[in-house]
Amino acid sequence: MAKSKPKNVICPCFDITKAEVKQHIRDGVIKYKDLQRLTKIGTKCSSCKKKTKVKFKKYKAKLGVE
Ligand code: FES
Repeated sequence: MAKSKPKNVICPCFDITKAEVKQHIRDGVIKYKDLQRLTKIGTKCSSCKKKTKVKFKKYKAKLGVE
């Protein structure tokens, strides 16, 4: 039986959750490229890239990181 994806996974290729992305921002990641280097987010099928870039920006704004 196929495992359903938890809602908070934003990059299924690498199983990356929203919480992980937020934690990386809190840890000082301010560029999407650095997030990619650390997590590989958006580097396999690329289908999440546009969405995760937008979310990354949104989370940064929410966390007060520019
Ligand atoms: S879903 Fe993120 S690289 Fe494929």
